[in-house]
This record gives sequence, C-alpha cells and structure tokens, in this order.
Amino acid sequence: MKIGVYPGSFDPITKGHLDIIIRSSKLFDHLIVLISSNPSKNMLFSLEERLFIAKELTKEMPNVSVECHSGLLIDFLMDKDIHYLVRGLRAVSDFEYEFEMALANRWLSSKGVDTIFLMTDEKYFYLSSSLIKQIASLGGDVSEMVPDIVNKKLKEKWKKK
Ligand code: PNS
Repeated sequence: MKIGVYPGSFDPITKGHLDIIIRSSKLFDHLIVLISSNPSKNMLFSLEERLFIAKELTKEMPNVSVECHSGLLIDFLMDKDIHYLVRGLRAVSDFEYEFEMALANRWLSSKGVDTIFLMTDEKYFYLSSSLIKQIASLGGDVSEMVPDIVNKKLKEKWKKK
C-alpha cells in the first residue's frame, strides 16, 4: 500500500491546501494530512482546532485521514514505514525553504524518504495562511480563499480579541 504524508501547520487550512489534498490523494492508496509543529511559527488556531477543521473538510474523502504530530516529521514517517511526503509549491519564493526541508528530510531518513511537489493551482498562487490571517484580522473578506468553516472560525477569533 502506497502511503503519502502531507505535513503542514495548516494555521488555518486554505483552499490552496485543500486543492493539494484532493490532487495528492489520487497519487496514493492513502494520504495522511499531518498537522505538524513548526517551532518557528506562532499559531492562531490550537492543535485541536486545526485537527477538527481538517477532519471536517476531509470526512468525505475515503482515502484521507488526519493526524497530529509534534517532534521530527521524519520520526513519524520512519515509525510507520512511510516513504513519501507531499508539499505544495507556489511562487519561486517557496523554493529555497522547500528545497532545504526536502533535502534535510531525505538526509535524516538516509535517503529513505522523498518529497513530491505539486504546483499550486494558479488561483492560489499568492495565497498563504499568514496572508489570510492578516487580512481577516483587519476585517477583510477571505471567503473566496478559505473553506466556509475556516471563514466562520476566523470571524469568531477576531470577534473575541
Ligand atoms: O505549513 P508549514 O508551516 O510550512 O509546514 C512546515 C512543517 C510543519 C512541515 C515543518 O516545519 C516540519 O516538518 N515540522 C516538523 C519538525 C521537523 O521535522 N522539522 C525539520 C524539517 S526538515
């Protein structure tokens, strides 16, 4: 069985992420969306919230599951004997960061893990979770770029602050 892992902070999950989930789920028998820790980012949504949202959005996708992991991504893969990571690529500006991570993960796994990159749909070229959070925090409309459940949760977040 060919299993892929799509890791990310998903803070929050956007339509760009969802597009990558749908497309990459067709490449594997099973795809795990892995809500992972990114020590260099401060999160707006808690782990539980991100897990709940991702599960809601993928509940109709029979070969997709959602899990959380803190610690090294490669440990999660090695534990489960998984050899493929999936990441989305947007603008050239993503390349260096993604290249570094892909090589580090390949090195940490002694060449046992490869990262497969899917080009973003052009609709989502400039879409990022950070941009979404900034626009939403200033009262902007992000409904076109995030699933309804995320739009609703973002509104709730900023109402509370
Ligand atoms: O959505 P993001 O924040 O760009 O995703 C980055 C993420 C979570 C995939 C990366 O930070 C990660 O792999 N975190 C787990 C810790 C780890 O293994 N770090 C080394 C990566 S080479």
